Order: sequence, then C-alpha cells, then structure tokens
Amino acid sequence: MKALVLSGGAGTRMRPLTHTTAKQLVPVANKPVLFYGLEAIAQAGITDVGIIVGETAAEIEEAVGDGSKFGLDVTYIPQEAPLGLAHAVLISRKFLGDEDFVMYLGDNFIVGGITELVDHFLSDRPDAQILLTHVPNPTVFGVAELDDAGNVARVEEKSPHPRSDLAIVGVYLFSPAVHEAVRAIEPSRRGELEITHAIQWLIDERRDVRSTTISGYWKDTGNVVDMLEVNRSVLETLEPRIEGEVDEESQIIGRVWIEEGASVRGSRVVGPAVIGRGTVISDSYIGAYTSVSEDCRVENSEIEFSIVLRDSSIKGVRRVEASLIGRNVTVTPAPAVPHAHRLLLGDHSEVQISS
Ligand code: TTP
Repeated sequence: MKALVLSGGAGTRMRPLTHTTAKQLVPVANKPVLFYGLEAIAQAGITDVGIIVGETAAEIEEAVGDGSKFGLDVTYIPQEAPLGLAHAVLISRKFLGDEDFVMYLGDNFIVGGITELVDHFLSDRPDAQILLTHVPNPTVFGVAELDDAGNVARVEEKSPHPRSDLAIVGVYLFSPAVHEAVRAIEPSRRGELEITHAIQWLIDERRDVRSTTISGYWKDTGNVVDMLEVNRSVLETLEPRIEGEVDEESQIIGRVWIEEGASVRGSRVVGPAVIGRGTVISDSYIGAYTSVSEDCRVENSEIEFSIVLRDSSIKGVRRVEASLIGRNVTVTPAPAVPHAHRLLLGDHSEVQISS
C-alpha cells in the first residue's frame, strides 16, 4: 500500500500567508500541519509516499526532505497547476502503479490516525473507501448520501442544497480501479478534475464504494478560523515542559511548553500554550491557546488564542486575540499623536482594529 499526499493547491482562502508560505506548513502547536498527516501514514505502516507539490514545492521539499525523519521514503510529484484532486491521482499513475493507496489532503487534520482505516480497507478490499463525518454546515463540503443499507449511493461537490450532512473527510482509500475513473471524468465547471466525480463514476459503474463515518475530530485547515481551532485542540493535549529559561518574576500556569532556547522574563504564560526555540517573551501576557513559533520577540504585550509564525515581533501592543500572524511580521503601537493607524499590509490582508 502506498500513500499520496496532496500538498499543492492555491490556498486562496489563506491569503496573504499563502503568497509566501505553503498552507500545509502553517504550524499547529509549532509543528507543520502536514507533519501530523505524514506521522499518521508512517504509523499505519506505509512507507512509500508520493507528495504532490505545486508552486511551493521548494518549501515543502526543504521541510520534509527525503522523508527519512518520519521513517518514510518520499517521491515528489510536481503538479503544473491546481487542476483538482482527481488530477493529482491522474498524474501519479506511474508512482502508484497497481497498488492500493491512501490519498491524504496535506492540510487536513484528523485525530486518531488512519491505522484502523487502512487495516480495515486491506481486509475488505473495496474499490474505494471514503471517510465521512456529520457537520453542521454541509454546504461548504463535498457530501455523501447513504442508502438504507448504509452504502454510498451518491457523492456531490459543495452544493447550496446538500443531500445530507455527511461531509467527505480528506482521507480516501482506493484500489487501482480509481485510475480508470480519473481518466473517464471531465473537468467540472470550476475547471478541476473532481475526486467526487471519480467516486461517483465508480458508484455508477457498480464498483464497491464504502464509507466509514467517524465521530472523532476532523478539520480542513483551509481557513484561519479552522487553523486556530485545530491549534486550540492540539494544545489541549500538550505535555507541559519547561526546557527554556523562565526567570523568577515570571509565572507559568497550566499546560505550557517552553521550548529549549526560549526565554520568558517578567511575564505570565497561561496555558495551553507553546513558546518556540529562540523566542523571547518579556513583560508580557501570553494567554490560552497560543502558539508562538521560533525566534519571535514579544515585549510588553498581551496575546491570546493566536498563532505567531517565526521571526515576528509584537511590542507594546495590547491586546492581540484570535489572530494568525505570519513570518517576519512587526506589530507595534503608532505614536500617540496624531491618533491614527499606520498600516503596511500585503495583498489580501485582513485587519480588525478596535477603535
Ligand atoms: P483545497 O483546500 O481544496 O484547495 P486549495 O489548496 O486550492 O485551497 P483554496 O480553496 O483556499 O484555494 O485543497 C486540499 C488539499 O489538496 C490542499 O492541501 C491542497 C491540495 N491540492 C493539490 O495538491 N492539488 C490540487 O489540484 C488541489 C485542488 C488541491
């Protein structure tokens, strides 16, 4: 069994971060979201992994390398443009050969791993097995409709009138039958080869398409709100560790991980929170559900329920909340007079100012 991990895509919903960073590398509790998926694949006993890469190929390759640090053997498969999930399968034919495979969307986060699913698939050997979960907002997901016997009767792309509330989770298991399906379908109205169309093709051809409904936690981290939510849930399970320096004037409360080489001075950190290597927190308050990556400076500020990427500095600002701050960002107060906001924002930035 092989794995195909999708780490290309456009990431329009995460702009401006995705102008410079692959969305799959945005950290959750200071670890790229993609790494959680690669670890789950390794845990399921799969070693042969193809990673679909697009414009951000260099960055993904630098982060993942040859895969050996995960116990994986990684092959990179360049995709000329984000032409759809089924297009990713189409261009991976040579890598996948005639083996079964799991297709894993590199920005999806699923708790509990995929070991059980893979084992189940290998014992039953259907043509496709999809994962489903009940969601309150099915209009923004591909959904599946089950028949009375619980078999997959129909799958559909995002629809304003979804036939069910069962969203299709970003982990799919396929036999080589899917290759015929991805060759048979046409691009959708949005110009992509849709994996839902390939699955529907298998259903129409009376192939064996099964589903498992999971009750565990799943998030597609395609947007900022979901990213903060995944970060929150992972931090909830953090093992408290103080590996860096904390001075006597500081207070560390609850599940907090101060990474080696980090320094906390005259500050209060209330977990769950993680402070990355080389980061200095001084005279500040770091509140719950906050991840500060490596080599940041937080001085005389308050920050809560946020993710701060590396090399950024926040000085003299209270209070930052529910924010995703990119790399090399500087946040400081404006001079008191005139009373004005001074902004230098990249394309597609989003700012909410309290005034
Ligand atoms: P999506 O989040 O569906 O698409 P996207 O990355 O283009 O994002 P947006 O909608 O914000 O513009 O993609 C799911 C995952 O699959 C994600 O990790 C990117 C990856 N992907 C590819 O590798 N190739 C593709 O052709 C597409 C559409 C997605």
